[in-house]
Amino acid sequence: MHEHSKFLLADSQIPSAWVNVLPSLPEPLDPPLNPHTRMPLTPEDLLPIFPMELIEQEFSPQREIDIPGEIMDIYRLWRATPLYRARQLEKALDTPAHIYYKYEGTSPAGSHKPNTAVAQAYYNKRAGIRRLATETGAGQWGSALALACQLFGLECTVYMVRISYDQKPYRRMMMHTWGAEVFPSPSDHTNSGRAVLAVSPDSPGSLGIAISEAVEDAATHADTNYSLGSVLNHVMLHQTVIGQEAKLQMQQAGEEPEVVIGCFGGGSNFGGMSLPYVLDRLAGKGPRILAVEPAACPSLTKGTFAYDYGDTAKLTPLIKMFTLGHDFVPPGIHAGGLRYHGASPLLSHLLRLGYIEAKAYSQIPVFDAALQFARTEGIIPAPESAHAIRAAMDEAIAAREEGRAKVILFCLSGHGHFDLGSYETYLSGKMQDYEYPGREVADALAAI
Ligand SMILES: Cc1ncc(COP(=O)(O)O)c(C=O)c1O
Repeated sequence: MHEHSKFLLADSQIPSAWVNVLPSLPEPLDPPLNPHTRMPLTPEDLLPIFPMELIEQEFSPQREIDIPGEIMDIYRLWRATPLYRARQLEKALDTPAHIYYKYEGTSPAGSHKPNTAVAQAYYNKRAGIRRLATETGAGQWGSALALACQLFGLECTVYMVRISYDQKPYRRMMMHTWGAEVFPSPSDHTNSGRAVLAVSPDSPGSLGIAISEAVEDAATHADTNYSLGSVLNHVMLHQTVIGQEAKLQMQQAGEEPEVVIGCFGGGSNFGGMSLPYVLDRLAGKGPRILAVEPAACPSLTKGTFAYDYGDTAKLTPLIKMFTLGHDFVPPGIHAGGLRYHGASPLLSHLLRLGYIEAKAYSQIPVFDAALQFARTEGIIPAPESAHAIRAAMDEAIAAREEGRAKVILFCLSGHGHFDLGSYETYLSGKMQDYEYPGREVADALAAI
């Protein structure tokens, strides 16, 4: 009998509900605070930028939330995504470990991001909103939201971090193809952007600055809402389709993972993959769960657990999370989607309670892993996703040294077809590693 390398699900097996861990937490989350009053946020505080149905999901006490039929119709365009066993990589590493990966790069935008973009566009359309404004780092989130808005007949404005706007023209062209308008951030379209440009006209931008611009745009236009591609509870919720499918596919493979791994920017692919397994952990069983972040922007491993703003201009609510400080502008690493100062409050809470672990890598060892993966499994990974590959390979190498067959599952959150400039930099030997920017982080933390 041949050995299976991929595990597929029928359309009828796509999850019909998102799973919510909020009601199962042993201690509740600290509430987000209104930035003006410093009192716990009320749903009304969020109405200028979010539709009520998403606000309800943000604080929902329900264990499961049914996925509306209109969203299922769109999910079926690419879901369920495949689960692979990385047999070629296992051979190359000469490891007894079994390595599985859930590949989210088969969506039209090339990553996991449409799982929530589609849901957010749907609920905003139902609320009578005409346009969504958002930020994007490397362009994965912006292109996912551009696609989702197009599918639901909404307009879309994307503030794209300047360094990526210049380095990744093809992502910008995808957004244009799906009908969005795209501004390099900091831009002169908002007060927040103009304030940054006045001080540093050549600013490379950051996600924190771009979020300020998008939130300001939404808050100052009645027909426009804001949409965030990570961090918030409702985003984690929508992404749980990943882990639910992976569990079914691991059952098909007849194995239980010993460790579940995902790269970590704000937490959405990691949360999507791991939260269904966190429910097992909360019930006293389940795998180790490992988040992998860049050493140049290590919010989970070097950040402080504190109330901080989600953006640079302090327009967002204060949220309790692991943070490097809202002023921190991370070095220009190639994994643009991981350049965020904060982290999901839900995943921060789970890290603090010991249900998940975190680890940081610098970018050269990450690209070493990306190359080995591309040359064995074939898929060229997004630089963000390659952080998870690095950690999975190190787990597999440790298993070889221990001489035991460990089962490893990771989320391959996207492909790197528009990140080939980064591969060229690596292949030509020009890639550099950044020291941990301890000084800048200390300054930024002093400001919170
Ligand atoms: C392919 C890919 N993976 C991971 C991330 C990180 O985001 P998150 O932590 O929300 O999954 C991004 C962000 O843009 C991304 O594009």
